[in-house]
Amino acid sequence: MSEHEHPPAVVLDGVTRRYGTDASAVMALRGVDCTIDAGELVALRGRSGSGKTTLLNIIGAIDRPSDGRVEVLGTDLGTLDEHDAGEWRRRNLGFVFQSHGLVASMTAFENVELALRISGTKRKERTGRAMEHLDLVGLTDWANHRPDELSGGQRQRVAIARATATEARLVIADEPTGELDVETGADVLALLRSIVDSTGTTLIVATHDPAVDDYADRILALRDGALT
Ligand SMILES: Nc1ncnc2c1ncn2[C@@H]1O[C@H](COP(=O)(O)OP(=O)(O)OP(=O)(O)O)[C@@H](O)[C@H]1O
Ligand SMILES: [Mg+2]
Repeated sequence: MSEHEHPPAVVLDGVTRRYGTDASAVMALRGVDCTIDAGELVALRGRSGSGKTTLLNIIGAIDRPSDGRVEVLGTDLGTLDEHDAGEWRRRNLGFVFQSHGLVASMTAFENVELALRISGTKRKERTGRAMEHLDLVGLTDWANHRPDELSGGQRQRVAIARATATEARLVIADEPTGELDVETGADVLALLRSIVDSTGTTLIVATHDPAVDDYADRILALRDGALT
């Protein structure tokens, strides 16, 4: 297929993010340029405070750069107002966070089904799709359990099912293994790898966990807000 049919998933051009305006302003990102291809699993590595979350929030249309251009899945995010950005995000992206962020009163199934509802998936497709993705993360038998009845690794797998069930073309994961033991963290990374391979989604994982290097196609290293 031609390049034209597969535009890059992410293009960043001179992205800066400054917090505050006075002398004490923090430059969280200082001119980040990079391209992430569709279908890549990219690890965003860097020490605490290096700007990983800031960059993910900008790619995910949660935050805006102070300067620079951000194109994600062919859309120039600078052209979207806040409302359109929210709508665009719900339809196109999946998120996995460090502390899973599941709805405590809902079962694993209901959490995934809710994400499908929010993303605008048709009602008759939702049940099948939710179960399919819970199966993909090995939780078929746990579908009717609430988060407080699941282990940390199981909860993180529900969060992954929730992020991928919508068939998001880009999944953003911020420290998805941060609260897991080493072995469970490796399981979660292997699962993310297999989902990228089987679905062709693009995945960006921010972490300071060096274990991610074994699973990523490419490692982007951030240091003091700049790629090294
Ligand atoms: N809302 C904010 N207001 C002011 N400064 C902020 C804000 N968010 C982040 N920063 C600053 O921006 C820099 C980058 O923070 P960021 O959260 O992106 O780092 P990180 O690489 O994700 O770190 P960690 O590994 O600890 O999650 C830090 O110096 C931080 O203090
Ligand atoms: Mg962070």
